[in-house]
Amino acid sequence: MRKIVIAGNWKMYKTQTESLEFLQGFMSHLEETPDEREVVLAAPFTALSIMSKNLHGSRVQLGAQNIHWEEMGAYTGEIAGPMLTEIGVRFVIVGHSERRQYFGETDETVNLRLKAAQRYGLTPILCVGETKQQRDAGETESLISTQLKKGLVDVDQENLVIAYEPIWAIGTGDTCESKEANRVIGLIRTQLINPNVSIQYGGSVKPNNIDEIMAQPEIDGALVGGASLEAASFARIVNFQKG
Ligand code: 13P
Repeated sequence: MRKIVIAGNWKMYKTQTESLEFLQGFMSHLEETPDEREVVLAAPFTALSIMSKNLHGSRVQLGAQNIHWEEMGAYTGEIAGPMLTEIGVRFVIVGHSERRQYFGETDETVNLRLKAAQRYGLTPILCVGETKQQRDAGETESLISTQLKKGLVDVDQENLVIAYEPIWAIGTGDTCESKEANRVIGLIRTQLINPNVSIQYGGSVKPNNIDEIMAQPEIDGALVGGASLEAASFARIVNFQKG
């Protein structure tokens, strides 16, 4: 059975105080959320500890936005698996396009980070997706196929979430048409060994398009940026309506 996973990626937004304010507005909405939906908040490192204390006993799982492949060491600015697991983090986003574009992340480092996450019992959310230029050049399928092939070497598909995030749809309000997202996600699934891997869509997911996105048969959840920063808006997304 493929799980439904709705995750908020807060990127470089929210102080500790702002994170707690969000939770105050958000948590009561979860009373309406069907039990089978997994809800994840990937907060900045500085907010994880206090959020963990506040989310104890709740159904919201914590995510981080990066993990280094070594257990410890001289890697200024990086974060290690045990630092995340000690405070109750369960998920980690790996290979987000912003890390690939601005911080030199490659399919090889993505692979190292995925394996490290699993070594420490975390569930990685592997992000793949094409630029507008690559899409226009007809390279979407081959690019994603390479990202998967290189990224997933020796990765355990029993403990993995994938997010299809077309880069041109991120933060632009220009959502990928839900049928097209469904098509690409279907293609991703054909490349996996485990048919039960949950595959999310990400890119301008909003309260007004989540129902249509989640109505697509291949789409198992969403990775939400901007619309996860506001409690009411993320609550509406988590509580999407089945058609
Ligand atoms: P937006 O929802 O702001 O487009 O961001 C998507 C994203 O990058 C989630 O990881």
